[in-house]
Amino acid sequence: MTAAHLDEVAAIENDCFSHPWSRRSLESELKNETSHFLVAVEDGKVIGYIGMSAVIDEGYLFNAAVDSHYRKKGVGSALVRELVTWCQKHDFAFLTLEVRESNAPAIALYSRFGFVRVGERKNYYSDPAENALLMTKYF
Ligand SMILES: CC(C)(COP(=O)(O)OP(=O)(O)OC[C@H]1O[C@@H](n2cnc3c(N)ncnc32)[C@H](O)[C@@H]1OP(=O)(O)O)[C@@H](O)C(=O)NCCC(=O)NCCS
Repeated sequence: MTAAHLDEVAAIENDCFSHPWSRRSLESELKNETSHFLVAVEDGKVIGYIGMSAVIDEGYLFNAAVDSHYRKKGVGSALVRELVTWCQKHDFAFLTLEVRESNAPAIALYSRFGFVRVGERKNYYSDPAENALLMTKYF
């Protein structure tokens, strides 16, 4: 992902989340050398992205999202696969994330790649209020 992708990534964020990352937050995170972002591009258009932060050998997934017109076509899987491969190459101990407990598509996606439920955070989310599941993939 580069600065040229920021407008489209921010638009996907806006469509997907009740508290989306602003373009400015995405831009500042992209400049952070501990962050690692990937985009999926089709015919020059950004159709999905994924982002994580690295703390030594620990990976913290910020977000993954696919444009609603391009879902259920394997784009989310491709993004998670690339990120997991990148973590493996860099000898990470684990990659971890939070997800809304009602978000069946995302939970199914992460489970397919070996993330397991390791805990929950009560009322972690707002609009609507909801618990977060903590899911971690160990390498
Ligand atoms: C979660 C998300 C990224 C999945 O992207 P995607 O490109 O549709 O995912 P894929 O096509 O690669 O699907 C991979 C697997 O995820 C699961 N999955 C995807 N969509 C699903 C749905 N609507 N219902 C149930 N499972 C689903 C399935 O296991 C699927 O495998 P299958 O196609 O063999 O059944 C997408 O739904 C999305 O952007 N959601 C909104 C943003 C979001 O909630 N992000 C996660 C924040 S933690």
